[in-house]
Order: sequence, then C-alpha cells, then structure tokens
Amino acid sequence: MQHRVKNNFQTIISLIQVRKQSLPGSQGRELAEKVTNAIIAMSMAHEQLSPTRTGEVVALNVYLQALVTSFAVTADAISIEVVSDDIDVSIEQAVPIGLIMNELLTNSIKHAFGPKGGSIRVDLHASAQGLARLIVSDNGKGLGSHAGAGSGLRLIRSLADQLRGEIVQNSSSAGVTTTLSFVARPR
Ligand SMILES: Nc1ncnc2c1ncn2[C@@H]1O[C@H](COP(=O)(O)OP(=O)(O)OP(=O)(O)O)[C@@H](O)[C@H]1O
Ligand SMILES: [Mg+2]
Repeated sequence: MQHRVKNNFQTIISLIQVRKQSLPGSQGRELAEKVTNAIIAMSMAHEQLSPTRTGEVVALNVYLQALVTSFAVTADAISIEVVSDDIDVSIEQAVPIGLIMNELLTNSIKHAFGPKGGSIRVDLHASAQGLARLIVSDNGKGLGSHAGAGSGLRLIRSLADQLRGEIVQNSSSAGVTTTLSFVARPR
C-alpha cells in the first residue's frame, strides 16, 4: 500500500517535471518547483507511516528530521538543528505540519541570510493535554517591512486552520521565529 502511494506521488512529480520544460517564463517554472517540493514533503509524510503499529501514526520527530535532512543538502552555509520530543500524529495532521515546515524552512533559506549563511532551529515540544508546539527560528535579518506580505504566509495560515492550530510569527533584527501550536492527535 505504502509503496503504491509513493509511486503515485512519484508519477505526479514526473508529470510536472515534463510539463515544466515547455513553460515559457520563469514564473511558471517557479510554481512547478514549489508544487513539486510540497508533493515531496507529503510523500515523505506517507513514508513515515508505521506498519508495525495499530492505526496509521506518523512519528513527527522522525518525519521532521527527514524533512530537514532533505533541505540541508541544498544549503551549505546554513545549519539546521532539530530538537524534538517524541510525538505521534495521524497522517491527516502530519501532512499540513510538513507543508508548514516546508514553507518556513524555504523562507529562512531563501530570505533570511546573506552569503555568510546562518542557522535555523526547529523545536518540537509536547506539553500537558496533548498540546504540541513547533517552533522554527532563524538568526537572519528579520522580516523588515515584509511581515505578513506574501502568499507563503497565507498558505501557512490556512494549513494551520486545517490543523485547528494557531500560528504566531515574531520578527526582529535578530531573526524570525514562528510558533505553531496544535493538539496532537495520533488518530
Ligand atoms: N525567515 C525570513 N527572514 C527574512 N525575511 C523573510 C523570512 N520569511 C519571509 N520573509 C520575507 O517575507 C516575504 C513574504 O514571505 P512569503 O513566504 O509569504 O512569500 P515568498 O517567500 O516571497 O513567496 P512564496 O512563499 O509564495 O514562494 C518574503 O518575500 C521575504 O521578504
Ligand atoms: Mg515563502
């Protein structure tokens, strides 16, 4: 089953890659790239489904680490550290959480740093009553006048709504910190 799902994701990615080549402008190609990255993040969530446990749970710490590792390859001067509690969630929660991570890591890598690079930290904590907190922070230049401006943040907000979670973004000249709070549901 998992194998088939993975092949289906791979087929969609191949379709996009083929179509991308006949797009005239850079905008279309950038969109194709963004959609491809989102599909990869979703595919990786499905790869985490544990066949040995009852129900379909995703170990969020393992999934987030795998996502971060896939990003680290593309960014040399940027270090990414993950500190995480063991938290299990359903695939329905893992997908929006992974897509939010994808947007936040992409933003830090793309916008936060100059040529000297910098560091990103991902914290995942569990507290009482199943409340979980995912914090992504960078030590870059901060949002400046761009706070709340782009389509990325709109997407993050609608994904957080899907999770019935809450998103708060703080920015200063010392960097950007985004906190996602949600109730972790393993099923
Ligand atoms: N971590 C960050 N550090 C510095 N600036 C940031 C950071 N994240 C976002 N920004 C700024 O906020 C703007 C809006 O971000 P947003 O993700 O909404 O859009 P985008 O990244 O420009 O485009 P898209 O996400 O649609 O590809 C960015 O263009 C950038 O100027
Ligand atoms: Mg963005």
